[in-house]
Amino acid sequence: MCGIVGYVGKQQAAPIILDGLSKLEYRGYDSAGMAVFDGKYIQIQKSVGRLKVLEELTHDGRTMPGVLGIGHTRWATHGAPSDVNSHPHYNEEETIAVVHNGIIENYIPLKNKLLKKGYTFLSETDTEVVAHLLDYYYKGNPLEAITKVLHRVEGSYALGILFADHPDTLYAVRKDSPLIVGKSDEGCFIASDVPAILKYTRNVYYVENQEVACMTADSLHFYSVDEEELEKEAVTIEWDASAAEKGGYEHFMLKEMHEQSKTVTDTMSPRIKDGKIVIEELGLTDEEICNMSRIYMVACGSAYHAAMTGKYVMEGIARIPVEVDLASEFRYRDPILDDNSLVIVVSQSGETADTLAALREAQKRGCRVLGIVNVVGSSIAREADNVMYTWAGPEIAVATTKAYSAQLIALYLLSLKFADVRGKITKEELTDYMEDLKRLPQQIELLMNNKERIQRFANRYIAAKDIFFIGRGIDYAISLEASLKLKEISYIHSEAYAAGELKHGTISLIEDGTLVAAVSTQPALYKKTLSNIVEVKSRGAFVLAVTTVGNTEIEKAADYVIYIPETNPFFTDSLAIIPLQLFAYYVSVGKGCDVDKPRNLAKSVTVE
Ligand code: F6R
Repeated sequence: MCGIVGYVGKQQAAPIILDGLSKLEYRGYDSAGMAVFDGKYIQIQKSVGRLKVLEELTHDGRTMPGVLGIGHTRWATHGAPSDVNSHPHYNEEETIAVVHNGIIENYIPLKNKLLKKGYTFLSETDTEVVAHLLDYYYKGNPLEAITKVLHRVEGSYALGILFADHPDTLYAVRKDSPLIVGKSDEGCFIASDVPAILKYTRNVYYVENQEVACMTADSLHFYSVDEEELEKEAVTIEWDASAAEKGGYEHFMLKEMHEQSKTVTDTMSPRIKDGKIVIEELGLTDEEICNMSRIYMVACGSAYHAAMTGKYVMEGIARIPVEVDLASEFRYRDPILDDNSLVIVVSQSGETADTLAALREAQKRGCRVLGIVNVVGSSIAREADNVMYTWAGPEIAVATTKAYSAQLIALYLLSLKFADVRGKITKEELTDYMEDLKRLPQQIELLMNNKERIQRFANRYIAAKDIFFIGRGIDYAISLEASLKLKEISYIHSEAYAAGELKHGTISLIEDGTLVAAVSTQPALYKKTLSNIVEVKSRGAFVLAVTTVGNTEIEKAADYVIYIPETNPFFTDSLAIIPLQLFAYYVSVGKGCDVDKPRNLAKSVTVE
């Protein structure tokens, strides 16, 4: 979703803003713009299209001199992608400029009131309302105008604001949309995400809801919505800027797939200690774990698919009933929660609007919420009662790979912990499970090393129209994720089906040569899936099977087989997903798609 970068300090603002925006491109956007105070006026340049259009327009920022500025990459919500709808937006006198990420939900009544007061609007955006509203309330004190606006607007926002009357100060505020503030000897920065400013500073402040930041080249103050000054502590970012660079790989997605074995190790090893699963951050007593009646796992997209696997593992090992919900459904379905239910929200970004709303809904109903989150200090991480971090590091490619793999590990660890505490597994069984977990990083690496074979196979399917993925149990959850990966980055229509469900309608879509990828890693279901492979083969399908090494019988039925190393059946997702991620990646590359930034998608979905 939209990206914001702002700067005030001793350097030229425009190059810093352009550089920062380039680090936020992964969030997805359709236009870009920048406002810089040139010593007399606030200059704005903006354009639909990629950031390089803005770079060309401003000669890499050289035509916009000044040490105070804000920039924006827009992912259209209100009003089509166009020059005029791009941010920043001005008030009529062009003395106030605003960039915004989020949605002002009550912008229509506010706009109508402003129209009646004689304001005119140039764009179709909700953001322009903020610029005019600031103008309406501004009587010489920007902080007062901003807090008055905060009392009027509803919805989500991260805002960067310039006032021409205050040419040395950058203003920012947020509610339910991400925004961080950074400070160095060279000045102050704002950004939607850490990678945008990491080159300049590691001292970062996480802005809480409705906190206003007022920044100059050498000062930084935070205020509450009641204009009271707040004390805030800086957090030092430990990871390196290079973690958010491509590091020689052609795409972030390929780099991040290669990082999966490390991600799995980093998420797992601090939590396996002295033959036990230790999750210090869990915040649940053994008694509470034993009394737990039900778990709800709530997430969106790939995180939802990780939760689906989590359900099979948690129910299978810990024998606790689990319901898995799409966050966008959970928040509105009036769920029946009791004091002994645990809600687990899973999110890479920690900013997904629906997941955040589901978390709040669960808390409102008195339920404890555990967040499985990747981005440290994100909204979900801050609001959940407890947080278990997936240590995947920054994930830049829009299509998640390493964060998904880390989410699986977190869910396996939780399942083992709960099973152990509830006495559902013996000490020996726990040891065996942990040994299998420890082998996963190496096994993942082995699969990644075979990527050329997958590439050759993928090259045959770049012209495919439809591809189906089938599987049962955990293999169905894997199929859902594999199908999403393929369709989101290659634009090939793809569906995932529970293998036993095919004959209830979908099998009519199978034609001569249709590719069906059958995932079969569950020994108890192997024969059943084999029958489903035969069914689709006899209707003309070309079958790619993904199965565990040793299941050679499958070669008689399938046309092409990918073997994964042996592991506990509960953990096969961590291995089977690797060749299927690679398949999606190479199909996308073969088609010449924008692998890391697929059309219409955003990395962090901060609107409903
Ligand atoms: C797909 C993908 C998305 C996200 C979903 C949730 O590759 O990345 O489906 O999984 O938007 O995002 P988070 O995990 O940030 O809540």
